[in-house]
Amino acid sequence: MDSIVITGGAELNGSIPIAGAKNACLTLMPATLLSEEPLTLSNAPRLSDIRTMTTLLQSLGAEVSAMQDGKVLALSSHAISNHTADYDIVRKMRASILVLGPLLARDGHAIVSLPGGCAIGARPVDLHLKAFEAMGATLDLRDGYVHASAPGGRLKGAVVAFPSVSVGATENALLAATLAKGTTVLKNAAREPEIVDLAQCLRKMGAQIAGEGTSEITIQGVDRLHGATHPVVTDRIELGTYMLAPAIAGGSVDLIGGRRDLVAAFADKLEEAGVGVTDIPGGLRVARRNGRVGAVNVVTEPFPGFPTDLQAQMMALLCTADGVSVLEERIFENRFMHAPELLRMGARIDVQGGTATVTGVQRLRGAPVMATDLRASVSLILAGLAAEGDTVVSRVYHLDRGYERVEEKLGACGARIERVKTDG
Ligand code: EPZ
Repeated sequence: MDSIVITGGAELNGSIPIAGAKNACLTLMPATLLSEEPLTLSNAPRLSDIRTMTTLLQSLGAEVSAMQDGKVLALSSHAISNHTADYDIVRKMRASILVLGPLLARDGHAIVSLPGGCAIGARPVDLHLKAFEAMGATLDLRDGYVHASAPGGRLKGAVVAFPSVSVGATENALLAATLAKGTTVLKNAAREPEIVDLAQCLRKMGAQIAGEGTSEITIQGVDRLHGATHPVVTDRIELGTYMLAPAIAGGSVDLIGGRRDLVAAFADKLEEAGVGVTDIPGGLRVARRNGRVGAVNVVTEPFPGFPTDLQAQMMALLCTADGVSVLEERIFENRFMHAPELLRMGARIDVQGGTATVTGVQRLRGAPVMATDLRASVSLILAGLAAEGDTVVSRVYHLDRGYERVEEKLGACGARIERVKTDG
């Protein structure tokens, strides 16, 4: 198992290319199941989660091949030979549930393992299932699997009013509604850029969709979808993560492909803390002004609010801020696992339920640390950039699910960071 070793204290200067979004790619890939014709996705990120989705789609009979060093994915679902998404794959990655909508929409039946909880919370899928029920599906939960079928083999358009905002449930319902009979209206829909990207791709495939990016999406079902080629939108969470690197370590870094509209609430917070964020041709430039950053308060919310997926990384920055910051996590109930690890590095953090109070310290100290999820892992790398001495982050397989070549990207800007092979 690999570890990442960071020797803190180096200022960062240079540029970092931002990849296509993991979470967009994971919802675009199942769209292949909706059509017999090929779907080509460019600007795909090269990540283990993408390989897991590839394995899942292949197990259903889809053909998936990675080209151009994995940056282009060619997908084709001429025939679906298996309608069961097995527990062994689904347990590895919750986004596997996103095959349920397309399978049900195309062939009128599917059996998908329930994902179960994970490190950041219970994460039920009831909102996904309620949307399919509203569209006429019959659902039976047996032996840890959802057995779903659409009477007469086709879902029906419906008004689906989500009681709370869910990115995944919005995506699953949107995918399914494209082939349903009649009109579907998704109310209280999620507005994330990944949903806009999915709607744009589905429209290229012939779907009739209006309102994506707002809280009401209307889909007029069609009889069939055709092939398309689509570039995956920029990864706003990778972007935000690397925006924090010069903020925490000092220096100035250009984020190639970065767009402010993808991270507006987060960029506003960085500026409030005293970090400069400027538009440059083809990207964003982030530079720390002189001295320590200031304390700021953060509340995580669905888009366009401050993203939960940047909360851990922001906490790493605020550990070194001048003053007391309060971070409120409102999306997931257990998303402060990075706090005890940051404490090992000399941070001062008090967690009470969903609120963390962070009292900034002058300097963090390197330590051996580990994390149980992706964003927590990268927050420890960011903390390591600012810490005195060596930080060793183990269990980096979490990191490899969502960040490609993190050590190369930061190393190119002057960070002292390397991947070390460890036994076992
Ligand atoms: C997506 O997860 C992302 N994953 C997550 O990214 C991200 O943290 C999350 O959205 C919120 O932005 C992918 O896109 C693959 P939700 P998702 O449904 O869709 C509750 C990362 O680090 N809920 O919007 O699973 C749920 O428990 C990850 O890349 C229900 O109660 O998130 C949570 O509290 C981790 N019932 C809240 O809603 C449901 O049926 C929001 O979850 C569905 C969700």
